Amino acid sequence: MIAAILVTQSRMSEYMDMIDIPPEYMTGLEKVDSEHQRIYRIITLMSQSVADNKGSTITANHTVMLLAYIKCHFENEEDIMIAIEFNGLNSHMEEHSVILNKLSDLFCQHRMTGDITSALSYLIGSLIEHMKSEDKLFADHVRLLRSKKTKKLSAR
Ligand SMILES: [Fe+2]
Ligand SMILES: [Fe+2]
Repeated sequence: MIAAILVTQSRMSEYMDMIDIPPEYMTGLEKVDSEHQRIYRIITLMSQSVADNKGSTITANHTVMLLAYIKCHFENEEDIMIAIEFNGLNSHMEEHSVILNKLSDLFCQHRMTGDITSALSYLIGSLIEHMKSEDKLFADHVRLLRSKKTKKLSAR
């Protein structure tokens, strides 16, 4: 199912559009929010598959692609934080690294046992929460810098 999401099948894509990330998870940064939205939708669909007793349709290919997407998203965030010289960069990168390592272990466990529930719990409890806490911190900083820049320009 996740493969279908990532390669954008029309029906699945329509269904995905119906799943919106709750507003409290929005950072206000367009690119970051659109990547969060995609991750949130995939996790929601995975959870629905498990709830419908279709967890076995989630394959190793799906988890490999999801992990790659999350890794890419983390790198995009780190590029933004480097560009603004965010002083929480190191601890944020450390948290990304912890999440990726743990997810890699849990997806490995899924390949060995077929059980996806531990990985899903971690995705919901840690990755989704990371969006609401850590990601909002650097996003607030980006927006603050942007508003300072706008004020400077309008004062000229
Ligand atoms: Fe993020
Ligand atoms: Fe992050």
